[in-house]
Amino acid sequence: MVTTSEQKRIPQHVAIIMDGNGRWAEMRGKERCEGHAAGVEAVRTTLGAALRRGVKYLTLYAFSTENWGRPAEEVDALMELFCRCVAGETPELRAQGVRIRMIGDRTRFSEGVQRALADAERATADCDRLTLVLALNYSSRDEIVRAVRALAGRAARGELAPASLDERTLAAALDTAAYPDPDLVIRTSGECRLSNFLLWQSSYAELLFTPVLWPDFSEEEFDRALEEYARRDRRFGLVR
Ligand code: FPP
Repeated sequence: MVTTSEQKRIPQHVAIIMDGNGRWAEMRGKERCEGHAAGVEAVRTTLGAALRRGVKYLTLYAFSTENWGRPAEEVDALMELFCRCVAGETPELRAQGVRIRMIGDRTRFSEGVQRALADAERATADCDRLTLVLALNYSSRDEIVRAVRALAGRAARGELAPASLDERTLAAALDTAAYPDPDLVIRTSGECRLSNFLLWQSSYAELLFTPVLWPDFSEEEFDRALEEYARRDRRFGLVR
């Protein structure tokens, strides 16, 4: 349970690498896709907990640019799952005040997936209780390359003086331009790496790795993560 004094230290933005769906399924003799389906339940639980705790931004790493290399059957099942969830959950999310946004290169998705995402973004555009950012066909390096390409284009057209380019210019060209940097990045399943997720944005994020597999990630786990975050001493390179 998060105590009153810790309420003051609720992270504004929590980002999660939802890992371990496949292992969760394999441990139960199930297909990997069943692990992803179970992972959707953990998304619902976590979103509910984030709303109750007053988190304003929740970013979920749902599909990386590298995930296209998985077996076609798994990729297809994931695409189907994203479409079904995003379309099916939009009315409830809207009712809860959740704004749905996406980061990543959406141009590689089928028209159907792109439409489902755009519809959900449009339908929830005026919601302001929590912004749920889905990282889909996302990787940091790809995001940075796309941003640099856009900036180089502006420079070539004479719209941007190279000497004026600074951190703010680059941050404003990233997919995440409209969101604050994550305060807390959680990765489930015991792997201790960032796997190309929000590398620029996580420069000063608190990192938390838990052995819990994503489908088992519960409200209690989320609270434990917030409690650990509240104990961290964030100095941003300064001294106390
Ligand atoms: C990583 O686990 C998980 C994924 C690549 C997919 C995550 C997707 C979901 C949880 C569904 C969420 C849906 C929405 C709408 C956000 P893994 O498969 O790499 O697990 P493993 O490392 O144990 O194999």
